[in-house]
Amino acid sequence: MREKTEILVLGSGVAGLTFALRAADRAEVTIVTKRAREEANTAWAQGGISAVFDPTDSFDAHVEDTLVAGAGLCKRDIVEGVVREAPERILDLETLGTKFDHAPAGGAAPFELGREGGHSARRVVHAGDITGREVERALLDAAAAHPRIRFLEHHMAVDLITLSKFGGPDVCAGAYVLDTRTGTVLTLLARETVLATGGAGKVYLYTSNPDVATGDGVAMAYRAGAEVADMEFYQFHPTVLYHPQAKSFLISEALRGEGGVLRLEDGTAFMKKHHAQADLAPRDVVARAIDYEMKRTGEDCVWLDMTHHPASFLERRFPNIHAECLRFGVDMTQRPLPVVPAAHYMCGGVTTDASGRTSIPGLWAIGEVACTGLHGANRLASNSLLEGLVFGRRAAEAMIDLGPADGWSDVPEWDAAQAGPSDEAVVVTQNWAELRQLMWNYVGIVRSDKRLQRAARRIALLQDEIREYYWNHFVTRDMLELRNIATVAELIVSSALFRRESRGLHYTTDHLATDPAMARDTVVKRGVPAHFR
Ligand code: SIN
Repeated sequence: MREKTEILVLGSGVAGLTFALRAADRAEVTIVTKRAREEANTAWAQGGISAVFDPTDSFDAHVEDTLVAGAGLCKRDIVEGVVREAPERILDLETLGTKFDHAPAGGAAPFELGREGGHSARRVVHAGDITGREVERALLDAAAAHPRIRFLEHHMAVDLITLSKFGGPDVCAGAYVLDTRTGTVLTLLARETVLATGGAGKVYLYTSNPDVATGDGVAMAYRAGAEVADMEFYQFHPTVLYHPQAKSFLISEALRGEGGVLRLEDGTAFMKKHHAQADLAPRDVVARAIDYEMKRTGEDCVWLDMTHHPASFLERRFPNIHAECLRFGVDMTQRPLPVVPAAHYMCGGVTTDASGRTSIPGLWAIGEVACTGLHGANRLASNSLLEGLVFGRRAAEAMIDLGPADGWSDVPEWDAAQAGPSDEAVVVTQNWAELRQLMWNYVGIVRSDKRLQRAARRIALLQDEIREYYWNHFVTRDMLELRNIATVAELIVSSALFRRESRGLHYTTDHLATDPAMARDTVVKRGVPAHFR
């Protein structure tokens, strides 16, 4: 089957929807989403969106906090532009119907502002503790009402279509897309293709991300020959609920913003000895400190104590976290919450310019899938929804002239001639589990050359098996996701092996110092080994 659309967007989170709503004023937009449209990483964001609204705060301070967290790898011009645009983008969301928490009338700022690690001021605009869900709701409502936006739910891109593969120019012209319910693959041709596929938390055994976060955009872009950068910088959120049934439940950093204290089992508060900002140190520091304390004491988790607040405050400010923890039998108003770190955010990604253009004409990347220079070696809390808003809009504005539709007739339909039904689906489940476990054990919060080398060897073996399986069987979503997390794992490990220093989120016991000569991006491209730029 073959279809055409003007603009193809892969992903239905904050970046993809913001883009689509703006671009659909000029062109017809098709949004492809792997599951139901609301199942995006965005909906899981709790904390909020950072922006300067308090008169005692300043753009300079927000810029400085972002640069400090980014450990020398942020692009200053990008940071300054995003920080200055932030208040306007939040007001756009409010106009669209997003219900943020407001400050009492007559207050200095219009919104109730939260605080998170690494921020020198209160500047996190939020909707209770379900900010992402509320933002996603408002954007989806608006997109559903737009006559030029079409959703293809339960569809997953297999690979990008690049005309150079069929003797044409180096241009992206859409994607092969699997209907996950029927198993048919659609040739979806587009003048412009936008990756808004989010992150890749599922590459690690423990993650705060939903099941959809399998790094599809980075993996496809890499296979298509696009440039990818800074993949060694995977952010671990310090606090996910530690409970056998609580898969991926995030305990927002906003709790520490309201005075939450991390403690050991015996009640000792330990963050002061790790950093001057104690519990509000940047995330990489807090995650490493927890990892260190857990390894030192042999305890399975640490404890986040909020009991200094009255129950009424916690129930009002964190209604979702409070209710969800109660479901697991933990009452945060009465006792500290058991927490552990988990993979949370991919700071690297497909490299783009200030408007989301990648190194392949006709291919754009926005949101977590992109590496724009905003986050550098470590993302500042609550700068991620913000990046999606800013770059979603910028890409739509930059896409004034749609690319040509030449060469489409040369694109063949998906060829499944050699493939048959799966005879051993266990290959997928086995490799999925093995890959995520080895990434957790060898490529986690603290790394070493030896562990990274072990990981590289094992990933190469797994990839051989995955390739063989891929070419011989009909494609399924599970298979494609496995292939994509394996590619992302390969890129994280090769970038981490190349960076022989510790910086931001990349911390290795073999190269503990930060080397000023390495204040550069690690770039990888198919057929070109990792190098600095
Ligand atoms: C959180 O609420 O702690 C997550 C916010 C973020 O990742 O920016």
